[in-house]
Order: sequence, then C-alpha cells, then structure tokens
Amino acid sequence: MEIDQLSARLKEYDQDHVVRFWEDLNQTEKSELAAQIESIDLPLMKRLSDEWIFPEPEPEAFTEIRSVPTIPQVDPARPDAQEALSAGEEALWHGRVGLLLVAGGQGTRLGFDGPKGAYPIGPLSKDSLFAAHANKIHNLQLRYGCTLPWYIMVSDTNKAASELFFKEHNHFGLDASQIFFFTQSMVPCVDDNGKFMLEAKGRLAMNPNGHGGTYLAMRDNGMLEDARSRGIDTLSYFQVDNWAARVADPYFIGYHILGGGQMSSKIHRKLRPRESVGVHVLCDGEHRTIEYSELDIYPQLLETDAEGNVICDAGNPAIHVLDVGFVEEICEHFDRFPWHLAHKKIPYIDESGIVIQPDQPNGYKFETFIFDALRFVKHDPVALEIPGPGEYTPIKQFEGDNSVQGARATMREYWAEWLEEAGFKVPRDATGSVAIDIEINPEFALTKEEFLAKVGDLAVAGNGDVSIGANGTSPV
Ligand code: UTP
Repeated sequence: MEIDQLSARLKEYDQDHVVRFWEDLNQTEKSELAAQIESIDLPLMKRLSDEWIFPEPEPEAFTEIRSVPTIPQVDPARPDAQEALSAGEEALWHGRVGLLLVAGGQGTRLGFDGPKGAYPIGPLSKDSLFAAHANKIHNLQLRYGCTLPWYIMVSDTNKAASELFFKEHNHFGLDASQIFFFTQSMVPCVDDNGKFMLEAKGRLAMNPNGHGGTYLAMRDNGMLEDARSRGIDTLSYFQVDNWAARVADPYFIGYHILGGGQMSSKIHRKLRPRESVGVHVLCDGEHRTIEYSELDIYPQLLETDAEGNVICDAGNPAIHVLDVGFVEEICEHFDRFPWHLAHKKIPYIDESGIVIQPDQPNGYKFETFIFDALRFVKHDPVALEIPGPGEYTPIKQFEGDNSVQGARATMREYWAEWLEEAGFKVPRDATGSVAIDIEINPEFALTKEEFLAKVGDLAVAGNGDVSIGANGTSPV
C-alpha cells in the first residue's frame, strides 16, 4: 500500500500520527512500518478502545459465583482413573494426540535475554525449558510408540531466536519434521487516549495478542489443517514456563475424552486468596476463569471460610486438553471472544522523536486468554485436580512467587521423595529441607512409579548433588 493510502486509512481511525516521521525513514524502515500498519485490524482496535478505555466498562454482574465441580486428584487405584488411563493411552497409541506449546509471551518479568523457553532451568544439567519439555516427549514417544507432532506458538518478539535455539540444539534429538513453529498476531499498544504508540520513528509499540491468540494462529497458519491431516483430534496444551507440566498426561487426556472432550482443565487448589493463578468458577452457571489480575472486580473470590481456606479455590493454571473441532469452532466466532487490558509502562517516542521511558503506567496492552474459551463449552468441562508439585511450577521471575528459585526448590523436594523411596539417602538440613541440588531427567522418568520401576532397589548413599540421566542413574 502506498503512503497516501496508508495515511488515509489511518486517518479514518484517527491514528495517522504514526506516519508523522515517514520522511525521516529509509526504505527498509518504511516497508517495515507499512507492514506493521497493514497487519493491524483497525476496526477491532477502535472497538477495543471504545469498549474498554472510553469509558472504563462496568464489570459483568453475576448473581452467583461458585467454585467449579472437580474430579479429585488421580488415584490409580480408583476405577474411574483406570478407565481414564485406558482411554488416554489408546488415544496416544493411535496417534490421535498433538502437543500445543505456547511460547509467544514477552517474558518481561523474568528479564532473561532470549526466549523464555531458552532459560537454563535445570539446576545441574542447565537444560533449558524447551529441552525439559522435549525430554518428556522422548519419554512418551518411546512408551507409546508414536510420534507426537509438536506445535509451538511464538510471536514476532521471539520467533527467530526460538527457531535458532532449536536448530543449535539439534531439535533436542527430536525429528525436525515433527516440530511446527507458528506465529501469533500482534496488537498495537495504545496510550491513555486510545492512540497507537511509536517505540521508534519507524516502529509501532505492539504486543503479542495473548495466549488466547493460539486459536486463530493455529487456524491461520495451517496448524489445524495439519493436525487433521495426521488424524489428530486431541491437543495437549501447555505453557513454556511451566517447567513441571505433564505433557500429554494419559489420565488427563482420558478424562477429557470420556467427559465429552471439548476443552478440559487441570485444577490446582489455591491456598492463598491472592495466589497468582486464575480461578475457575461458575458465574450464574457459566464456566469462567477469572485471571488473578482481575480478582478485585469480584471480591467474593478473595473470601475465606472460618478456617481461613479460600472458598473459590479452583486455580486454573492453564494446562488444558483441547479438541481440534472445538478450536475450529472458537475460530468461527472469535469476534465474541473477550479481550482484557493491562495498564503498563510503555516506552514511546514523543512528538519531537525523543524516547521517553515512563515511570508510571501510560498505556494499555490488549490480550486474550486461552481459558476464556471455557464459556463456549457446551457441557460441563472436565476439571481435574492436581497436586502443585510435579505438575505446576510456573516461572515468571527469578525469585519470589512463581520463580526460578521457587520452582527449583519445589522440584528438589518432589524428586527427593522419589530418591528416598528408591532407597537413596538424600542430605537434608536441620529444618528438614533437601540440602543438595537434585534433577531427574524426564526422559528417564516422568512419574515416581516409572522412576521406582527403573531404579529398582538400587540404593546409593550420596553426599553431593544427584543427577539422574536419561541413560541410567548416576549419582555424582
Ligand atoms: P504470561 O502471561 O505469564 O506472560 O504467559 P509471559 O510473556 O511469559 O511473561 P510476562 O508477563 O511478560 O512477564 C504465560 C504463557 O503464555 C505464553 C507465554 O509464552 C507463557 O508460556 N504467552 C503469553 C503467549 O504465548 N503469548 C502471549 O501473547 C502471552
């Protein structure tokens, strides 16, 4: 599109200020800015600004909000768990399952120089998050004699670096042809007046459109078609920063299939009202996940009972199983999909072209959330309880809540139990906490049962760090 056309189109939406430095740009910068502008859904952005910023919308009002009914944590001895396991394993054996990883976020809180998936999380191996997930896939493929296609969503912010990281690591030993990167859309950030912001004279400030962007990105990049062509009807969805995520968990897949299977969720019981996890609730009978950043809109979600237990405690950590047909349906009416906005500090250039680093929030980022699709599920979706350790260790920052340090400490205790049950002696400090670093490669064992079966009654007294490799046990 020529600049006159671009400018006229922007003017229609009162956004033509973004080409004010056009004459200062070189040819490449002009092409890049033009491409950015052409990628924007201007009517959508106008709708979002009109609905969300001028004026701030009234929150949806509900007469009754209550916790969602859940399936209790898997107990392999329970008949329902046995039935679920059979259904899940059958789907895996028959190659009906694909993996869907979202890794398109900006990872701002972690502040790591590179895609979050490249973060070296393994305390001993220094394996990255991507490698840790790949190791789980190796284990599953061997167990189920299948190839698990791995669809990985990235965004313009980390696509090139993520792809390069996979190449440099030889795709972590997986077959390059089973890995499919696809790119989610970006949306422009807007200032407090709903105007697009420039981060450089020739570049708009934009952000990935949230993990809810997975739906359209899967369709628009041919991933759904690819899945269909391989006979895949079930997608195991997980997030790159959940180190412990049980990828393609056969129990979960089985419960999903037996439960009518459109979209299922794992549920992590919240212990504190302000724990940083979305809450899965029934709002006047409709399934919703209220993100933790929006808890104050519904104060009843922060209430506790006489013993101090959170009443609506069904945390939804965004671990899902999705039916491919359901994803297709969501895409059909994505215009009804809700958006969320966050008021953030967004660096920008002012009218004279000077970069401003704001010290207060000065603009909005719009995002969609994967679990907002729950409201479109036609029957009660499966909500399967999980213990936090061994399933949910999100990594948002280096220390504190949901951090690298917290995740390593949790996994250390979790794996220490496996070792102790197998007869290893694990050094503990005076408070009873594990005193060494521990790491068990998920390629070797995904669960304690598998670990015990493989290790047998081998018992080793160890004083140093313990690392269990994929090819055997080797206390070091
Ligand atoms: P978060 O919402 O925690 O965001 O993403 P983030 O990008 O990792 O970190 P901050 O908020 O900038 O610090 C949860 C998961 O969803 C993915 C992330 O990559 C992560 O796996 N995600 C998030 C996307 O794939 N796309 C998005 O637009 C947002």
